[in-house]
Amino acid sequence: MAKQTTKDPGSTQKNSELDRKNKEALLGGGEKRIEQQHAKGKLTARERVMLLLDEGSFEEMGKFVMHRSKDFGLDKEHYLGDGVVTGYGTIAGRLVYVFSQDFTVFGGSLSETHAEKIVKIMEMAMKNGAPLIGLNDSGGARIQEGVVSLGGYADIFYRNVMASGVIPQISAIMGPCAGGAVYSPAMTDFIFMVENTSFMFVTGPNVVKTVTHENVTAEELGGASTHSTKSGVTHFASANEAECISDIKKLLSYMPQNCEDDAPRLPYVLGDEKRTLLNDLIPTNPNQPYDMREVIVGIVDEASFFEVHKNFAENIVVGFARLAGRSIGIVGNQPASLAGVLDIHSSVKAARFVRFCDCFNIPLLVLEDVPGFLPGTDQEWNAIITNGAKLLYAFSEATVPRVTVITRKAYGGAYDVMNSKHIGADLNYAWPTAEIAVMGAKGAAEIIFKKEISEASNPEVKLAEKVEEYTRKFANPFRAAHRGYIDEVIYPDQTREKLIKAFQMLENKVAVLPKKKHGNIPL
Ligand code: HXC
Repeated sequence: MAKQTTKDPGSTQKNSELDRKNKEALLGGGEKRIEQQHAKGKLTARERVMLLLDEGSFEEMGKFVMHRSKDFGLDKEHYLGDGVVTGYGTIAGRLVYVFSQDFTVFGGSLSETHAEKIVKIMEMAMKNGAPLIGLNDSGGARIQEGVVSLGGYADIFYRNVMASGVIPQISAIMGPCAGGAVYSPAMTDFIFMVENTSFMFVTGPNVVKTVTHENVTAEELGGASTHSTKSGVTHFASANEAECISDIKKLLSYMPQNCEDDAPRLPYVLGDEKRTLLNDLIPTNPNQPYDMREVIVGIVDEASFFEVHKNFAENIVVGFARLAGRSIGIVGNQPASLAGVLDIHSSVKAARFVRFCDCFNIPLLVLEDVPGFLPGTDQEWNAIITNGAKLLYAFSEATVPRVTVITRKAYGGAYDVMNSKHIGADLNYAWPTAEIAVMGAKGAAEIIFKKEISEASNPEVKLAEKVEEYTRKFANPFRAAHRGYIDEVIYPDQTREKLIKAFQMLENKVAVLPKKKHGNIPL
């Protein structure tokens, strides 16, 4: 006889309790607060997660967690999930861990339990070697909880540091983030901000007014435009949340899952790799600017260049691209901005990018056209020495495949710094337009022939003569090539093909740094 199945009323009751709790958790701080969030042009924490992850891939953890504190009315107000949605899922089929703060619950503020949820997925991300993405929308430490929320932040900061260089960490700022809510993102690899709806500050406009008597709006103090142009705190400023999330996915496509992995490679069949367009990019007049982005786009796979820190320190361009389907990091001096000089901001911007690529096995391509370091009291007093040294240090320490192409100027210390072979680059190429010298011909002639020029019957003619002599001798790539500092002088249209071959040749490079605890980068 077939066994009869009877419905257990107890289990039905339990299922409906789970249904009720599930519904409650989905509501966050309640319908009214969700409406308020939407009215500000913001998505909810869950909507963001759904937009970020592959459909149906999200697995939530800690949905029913509630805070423990009882002070200041916290005993009367509880929300399932405690203001943060955490879990894992996939992006383009690759595992990621995510937390998304819910501003509808106590302003997304971080309680002891909220912090525990984030810490839990940080540890899982590290153990399982997958990126961590934080969608931040938080007023910082939950004020009612006092020191336990501060402790919670410190627990997160510590794990940010432990995870640094192990897994990629990406932060998106999607609301008004203050206090601890900005320090954790600051320790991650990349920060995204959304224009007009996100702010980052350690102390808000009211505190600023009280302490410094400055009148400043939240947008001026810590909006996306401020942090993407003035401070450089954020790497990306997106027009809206959908664009921000789409850019996060794009950024991830260039990265490996962890420091022991390689970035995904797109299929590519080699063909005619000659790019004649590159032949006409360098102006005949060496003082005329051009846009290094055109050189980059001319070299890399079609539509593959993804610029990082686009509007900050524009005298250097950094970003990811693909070369024959393989992910590379690019650092290029930008003659179209400040003649491409190295200054404090551009050195720090590039140094941080170089170190990210080195952490995650992404080969580096350097495109060099640099007249030197920016002179002036502002630069000297703000420590161009220390800050310029960061870039020198970052390149010297990088063990990933490193190739440089000198397109035009490689002057002075900047020649050394910009991934020269002397500091460990694997290959250096130069275009015939390259000028590799201690300084520009005019400056050099004025110094070394000072006496001769001043004593000449026609000093101007003498100067021109000496400039011509210096140019002939040094303003070309051949002196350096004779020494072997340049491996090959190549025509611009050959560059793509040469680089594809070079990076293929360097694919199994092994370089080991001397045994040490860690170096002491000039911070
Ligand atoms: C508890 C908070 C909160 C917080 C906001 N809320 N921040 N609750 N702790 N830190 C609550 C509000 O009381 C309010 O609740 C709701 O969230 C929405 O906040 P509003 O102020 O109405 O929103 P808005 O006008 O958009 O302003 C957002 C804000 C502002 C700029 C984030 O709330 C703010 O300045 N908050 C405090 C920021 C701060 O000083 N945090 C502590 C930093 S110290 P109701 O119920 O009224 O809707 C810190 C320590 C770590 O983080 C330092 C590490 C280095």
